[in-house]
Amino acid sequence: MGLRIRAVALIFTCVDLCRPICHPVPPTPTCTRILPPFTTVSVMTDLSGDVGLPLVGETLPFVRDPVQFVDSHQERHGPVFVSQIIGAPTVFVCSYAGVRQVLCSSDAALDAAQAYAEFVDHLFPSPNVLLLPVHSPQRSRLKGLFYSLLSETAADEFRPVVRTLTQPVIDSLHSSLKLPLYTTFKPLCELIAFAFVLGTQYALEHAGVLSRLATAHFNGIVATPVSLRVMGRRSARARATDAQKHLLGLIQSRINYLRSSNDEKDESMLRKLVDASEGTEDDEVICNHILLLLSAAIPKTMASTLCSLFAQLSRTNRDGVDLRCTIVETLRLHPPLLGGMRTTGKQEGTCIAGKSVPKRHRVWWSARHANRDESVFARADSFIPLRWNGKLNDSHGCPFANSDILGMPFSFGSGERFCPGRFVAWAAIDEVATCLLDHFELVNNSSSDVVEMRYVPVCRSVEDIIVALKPKT
Ligand code: HEM
Repeated sequence: MGLRIRAVALIFTCVDLCRPICHPVPPTPTCTRILPPFTTVSVMTDLSGDVGLPLVGETLPFVRDPVQFVDSHQERHGPVFVSQIIGAPTVFVCSYAGVRQVLCSSDAALDAAQAYAEFVDHLFPSPNVLLLPVHSPQRSRLKGLFYSLLSETAADEFRPVVRTLTQPVIDSLHSSLKLPLYTTFKPLCELIAFAFVLGTQYALEHAGVLSRLATAHFNGIVATPVSLRVMGRRSARARATDAQKHLLGLIQSRINYLRSSNDEKDESMLRKLVDASEGTEDDEVICNHILLLLSAAIPKTMASTLCSLFAQLSRTNRDGVDLRCTIVETLRLHPPLLGGMRTTGKQEGTCIAGKSVPKRHRVWWSARHANRDESVFARADSFIPLRWNGKLNDSHGCPFANSDILGMPFSFGSGERFCPGRFVAWAAIDEVATCLLDHFELVNNSSSDVVEMRYVPVCRSVEDIIVALKPKT
């Protein structure tokens, strides 16, 4: 663990040293920053916060324990505060109302494109819906094409595949009667994600290589910003670049195969995309977006939800409580992604929850803290699935269908960048949980009450949790 923190700290220090904007945020109310080409700009802000160490700011305590970091700062400075993280002044927004404003505002001065570009543009080639600004016509067109294939109908049609992929897991659990949560759900969710995007048969045959490549690719996100090869050993960044090329090659071969074979049985997203985009999009654009959907982050978020769900279920009596309410409450209390990033514009700042945020600042919205805002959720730190009784939409589908439902957790974000994969994720989580709970009862395990968690990149317990099972008669 110590080694991991030191490695990440070193990485962030390297990132800091490489940035043109690198100086601490002075105490409020005046924030003075040096911008390229080294002009000094003063902006008035009513934000309060801590400066931290020269150069690295508060990167180290943030990386060591982001939840504790935000908790303690929120206690001192309130739900909107400023700090200096990973080489730039960063405003943290933790209240439900503040996060809603960040995500749903039509303010062009707040966008994720720039923030994503800082961290992942070397891993996801352009053009790419993720890296395009929300108001760009190209993004609207690509969203229309790609996100329509992730619809609720597509997700529901995929449910039988999820059941088929879960069956071998159920068979093996019948012999062991022990469910190691992450070790079970991570590979299962990978298989589910690969099957959705590339087809079931292809996923079953290539799961091993796809998993290795997607993991190497994803590890490049937190790697040093240089690609090194020293005496035959490659840096994580270099491995990520190689994995990216390899994945793009596999996707292109699959596209070629689908075009030449006209395989009727293939109902993958890629097949539908190839048909829908014929004559309108280059293969390069298709490959870029399939690469995005093969990101290791996606199965990790679904596995994280299933782990938190089964850990909770093993400690609580579920009698009579609707599974949908239990999943929503799990996502509220344990969002797989702690939050996300935005940046204020180059020309102007904005106002968030009554605080003025200057231009060229990062904005971190915390799903975890907004989901635990006492002014919206009574006894916010407690697991109470019944709070959702009668509050979720009537249909049996995904309760996160619309972004404008007040009082829903922000685990899938909201607004323009509302997770387009939420229907697929919901169908997969609901189906896997239903299949397992149809076959097994969970043996009560209150010892899993105190668990050491790791939150970055995706929330999970440091040690795997093992839940004992009893077959249902
Ligand atoms: C439990 C599972 C999942 C969780 C918790 C989750 C969470 C999120 C969140 C919070 C965002 C918004 C980030 C922001 O606003 O900055 C997001 C965006 C996104 N998610 Fe998910 N996600 C999940 C599953 C999926 C799946 C299954 C897919 C695809 C099949 C997917 C594809 C995407 C994409 C492409 C975006 C970028 C949207 C954009 O910027 O236009 N996600 N996700």
